[in-house]
Amino acid sequence: MSPAALVGIDIGTSSAKGIAVDPASGSVLAVAESEYPVNSPQVGWMEQPPEAWVVAARDVLARLRTAVSEVLAIGFSGQMHGLVCLDAGGAVIRPAILWNDQRSAPQCAALESGAGKARLLRLTGNRALPGFTAPKLLWMRENEPASYARIRRICLPKDFVRDCLVGGHRSDVADASGTLFLDVGERRWSSELLAELEIPESWLPELAESPEAVGMLDGVPVATGAGDQAAAAVGAGITGPGPLSVVLGTSGVVLAATDRFLTNPEGLVHVFCHAAPERWQVMGVMLSAAGSLAWFHDTLLPGIPYDTMLGEAESVPPGCEGLIFLPYLAGERTPHADPDARGAFCGLSVTHRRGAMTRAVLEGVAFALRDCLDTIRDVGATSTRGRVSGGGSRSRLWLQIVASALEMPLEVMATDQGSAFGAALLGGVAAGVFGDLDQATAACVRVTDVIDPVAAWIEPYREARGRFRDYYPALRSVR
Ligand code: XUL
Repeated sequence: MSPAALVGIDIGTSSAKGIAVDPASGSVLAVAESEYPVNSPQVGWMEQPPEAWVVAARDVLARLRTAVSEVLAIGFSGQMHGLVCLDAGGAVIRPAILWNDQRSAPQCAALESGAGKARLLRLTGNRALPGFTAPKLLWMRENEPASYARIRRICLPKDFVRDCLVGGHRSDVADASGTLFLDVGERRWSSELLAELEIPESWLPELAESPEAVGMLDGVPVATGAGDQAAAAVGAGITGPGPLSVVLGTSGVVLAATDRFLTNPEGLVHVFCHAAPERWQVMGVMLSAAGSLAWFHDTLLPGIPYDTMLGEAESVPPGCEGLIFLPYLAGERTPHADPDARGAFCGLSVTHRRGAMTRAVLEGVAFALRDCLDTIRDVGATSTRGRVSGGGSRSRLWLQIVASALEMPLEVMATDQGSAFGAALLGGVAAGVFGDLDQATAACVRVTDVIDPVAAWIEPYREARGRFRDYYPALRSVR
């Protein structure tokens, strides 16, 4: 039987992923995963029944418990921004509206009209994007008034799960930053904005820092936890200025941790509280990273093993002989803030085989990550190294492509389950196994490999990136 463990559970978009970590070494003792579908009842809509997350989390927890001798602590992370609405009896009112749902574009436009955008940036640190929670709630008020009238509490995805298992109505400031109701600089709800929008503050959870204990589950201390991106950064040992967190999950992220709140004059990046107390983060988010590859595989190459597909891409020259993929399958946040952006293959010719199309998908995601990097650099991020996590980081080819497009080395972590791993470390601090997060990351986070940019790919990627950037405005003009 394995030693006692810290357990992290990540409520992801396609599954709940759990990890059991040895606090003495950071070794992964066990993993478990339980999947659930995403429902898209209309183009641009993305929903999930919150109850499915709870079933999956219980299943993952039960399996991890049997794999280790003792669970010392539990931490949760999860997909950010999703809106869960509860009635007076605590029942779920409607399916959760997810982070990649684009229906609230009109509400965002209304929020930003006139001096609205500048005011939002001043009160919250961020602009209104359809991914965020506040515009989803305003959409509900306008479009589902009977359901809206029943709301007494709102929750974020991992908070709903944790509240169901542990009790209470809580959130952490890192995840709460993505609601657009938080004064990110002050790490508290913006009473001013809530009053202006006529949203009762009593609907919102009580706030804590991510490593704070919120209660017990079967005698085990549970941490408040964090949104998945902050947790992934912790899982990669990024608790302050230093390497960037580069995530190749369903979404793609380039994140810098900062020791002060950076203003975001144009609202092009997300400026959120970090899971580490008194730290913040700036991040660029692209909506379809590994999500693009999964779409390409499932739609065009079902049944073909990923290894075969990626092997075909390996023999294609960098730049794919002019073929470019725009990964805007679900609209895009950074840098376009455009819910109506759409994906495309541009520059197809008869010479292109399917390996070229696969490689174009890998490269298009890498170019979009470079857009995220350039955007966070514009607001002051300076780091020249990355640490990578997320399912896509299992492909060495993709890591080489991303390192070459970002023109920076990427450190590979001992586990690609960054968010769940970070959540386990938050649990360890909550339980007192570690004095603080820096101690937790020093004890547990391990870099196992470094992927350097491929020198011969840098020039072709600079050239291809120029065309990648030109295609988006060109295609937007024919909408
Ligand atoms: C971050 C974001 C996504 C989700 C899903 O702002 O929307 O990364 O958290 O992983």
